[in-house]
Amino acid sequence: MSRLIIVSNRVAPISEGGPAAGGLAVGVYDALKETGGMWFGWSGDVLSSGQPHMQVVERGPVTFATIGLVRRDYDQYYRGFSNATLWPAFHYRPDLIQYDRHDFEGYCRVNAWLAQQLVPLLQADDVIWVHDYHLIPFAEALRAAGVKNRIGFFLHIPFPAAQVLLSVPPHRELVKALCSFDLLGFQTQRDLRAFSDYIVSEAGGEVEPGLAPAPATVRAFGRTLRAAAYPIGVYPDEVAQLAKAGTRGKPVRTMKATLHDRKLIMSVDRLDYSKGLVERFRAFERLLDRSPACRNQVSFVQIAPPTRADMHAYQDIRLRLEAESGRINGRFAELDWTPIRYIHRQYERSVLAALFRQSHVGYVTPLRDGMNLVAKEYVSAQDPDDPGVLVLSCFAGAAEELSGALIVNPIDIDGMADALGEALAMPLAERRARYRDMIAQLRENNVSVWRDNFMRDLRAAGEKRRTAKTR
Ligand code: ADP
Ligand code: G6P
Repeated sequence: MSRLIIVSNRVAPISEGGPAAGGLAVGVYDALKETGGMWFGWSGDVLSSGQPHMQVVERGPVTFATIGLVRRDYDQYYRGFSNATLWPAFHYRPDLIQYDRHDFEGYCRVNAWLAQQLVPLLQADDVIWVHDYHLIPFAEALRAAGVKNRIGFFLHIPFPAAQVLLSVPPHRELVKALCSFDLLGFQTQRDLRAFSDYIVSEAGGEVEPGLAPAPATVRAFGRTLRAAAYPIGVYPDEVAQLAKAGTRGKPVRTMKATLHDRKLIMSVDRLDYSKGLVERFRAFERLLDRSPACRNQVSFVQIAPPTRADMHAYQDIRLRLEAESGRINGRFAELDWTPIRYIHRQYERSVLAALFRQSHVGYVTPLRDGMNLVAKEYVSAQDPDDPGVLVLSCFAGAAEELSGALIVNPIDIDGMADALGEALAMPLAERRARYRDMIAQLRENNVSVWRDNFMRDLRAAGEKRRTAKTR
């Protein structure tokens, strides 16, 4: 069997052996720990002087090959084009897009440089799987360096509607670069449709749908490639085990003791403007406004570790949330009750899973999200005999699969307050039925299935390319 090479900007922290907050690191780590292989990417270090050196570390079946970035590369490639241009555009926030053509040059330059660092580590038979928006030009760069291996790409975040993508000045270069991969994977059918629409309406290409489960065939920019939706999953039984184990731990026991018999609403997200936290806080406030019976009877815990904290948009959302939580708590808190507990810490996976299991409502309402693994972890962590209810945004990729959730529009504050009220009052029989429906779906499409389906199609796509060339 050929070796799997994962390439992503963010790599799970090597020393702790487990993933950082963020769906990519969590999902990829889970997928790779079973098959083994190499994971290549940024070490997380930013060097103010000297040259970056590759560090290669073996951890069980996974070899981590990581390298630092010099300050200018970090600013242009990561903070600049990836996170100030692509991230807001792909999350439908054209109002937040900042564009500087030097950042785009830096983005392409760093992709080419990273590709050159990887080349000496490659073997002829390796299958290369590149992840996420930081590395769109990576296949072009590898091909330019003479690499003939199969190369696939998976986008963890949404692919925007063509009209939104047009606001990114080098949109054509980006989509052309995507067409250098052998296989493109998206989280949802909605993302695949948006990409196909761009190919047909803006790039003059064509998309021939595959007979399911075969991927679609895309012809554009003189290339033929494959594309399909591969919704990323979790290991639901593993999360359930973690949740059970975590319940006996001190953090969860302390939490329970301070809750007394109040009901618990739980949210866990990176502190990102795409997560809809302001609207979420306001909908909880609306619930308290409208339902006096909920006051002092329900607590809302929002865990939100800061992320990309050196960017204005992230400093801004942090200030807004501090103001909102302070305002709402000031309005409703009593001597023995704080309505919103707003926490910036990272927690062990077992602690998060156990908190999910203790809670009555999982409150997951991003304004846009590629998938949202938290929604899947929440359901997985539940006690099958007494499960909580998932309130889920229609704009999370997970909403395509989790039909047992109460689906809300995160712009609709009253609608979200209604859903919270309905979730808190939902009878046991209905909670169980909804849980059974969702857990069956999560087991059927776990993270191994995600990886295996993608790898199956990448191997087939690469074969087709080779045979086409030898003809
Ligand atoms: P995103 O990829 O945008 O961050 P996801 O919901 O897909 O969103 O993935 C987030 C991942 O990070 C989940 O696996 C979640 O458990 C983890 N995570 C989020 N917040 C924390 C935290 N405070 N501590 C530890 N892990 C976290
Ligand atoms: C999302 C992105 C990932 C990213 C993660 C954390 O999950 O899809 O690519 O790694 O957020 O963000 P960061 O900028 O800290 O890597």
